[in-house]
Amino acid sequence: MTSDIEKILYTEKEIHSRVQEMGEEISKEYSEIYSVGILKGASIFYADLVRAVKIPVMLDFMMVSSYGAESVTSGKVDIKKDLERDISGKDLLIVEDIIDTGITMKCLSKILKERGAKSVKIAALLSKPDRREVEVDIDYLGFSVPDEFLVGYGLDYAEKYRNLPFIGVLKRSVYE
Ligand code: IMP
Ligand code: MG
Repeated sequence: MTSDIEKILYTEKEIHSRVQEMGEEISKEYSEIYSVGILKGASIFYADLVRAVKIPVMLDFMMVSSYGAESVTSGKVDIKKDLERDISGKDLLIVEDIIDTGITMKCLSKILKERGAKSVKIAALLSKPDRREVEVDIDYLGFSVPDEFLVGYGLDYAEKYRNLPFIGVLKRSVYE
């Protein structure tokens, strides 16, 4: 697996210390959170982040995919797995692996606000600002990254590499 990696962008240790900082920051701003982990990419980050948060956290999951630019105008995302509970009046924290065009998060946070959440914030491990097509407020961000295809720590290419403990750039030869 590692022979498919061009270079390591963040080591396991670097990720760990950044995630701890994010957890501390989140702990200061809420008294309780209803967190929404976005499957599958955010699963590894989610597991680490919630353990770095020192206030009560309820865990729930969604699996979503956007229809690209069409989602922005229609406000529709394909919800493959929905939340288990009513979220009205709750402080929500969406936990996502990476914000790319921003379309998925823009639509999802709108949908969850419309369901009556008291607040909806976003925690993303990574963001590719150069790729943004719609503006998204990222309330807690791990790292801002260049426009390269990344894998590891939950991120996949064709469902592979999610279990790498670091984040790396995938060799172009793997997908070109
Ligand atoms: P967007 O912000 O709506 O364009 O979608 C973000 C989603 O695209 C993420 O949740 C990932 O599933 C996927 N994605 C974007 N960039 C990468 C990458 O570099 N590696 C793996 N998945 C990515
Ligand atoms: Mg994803």
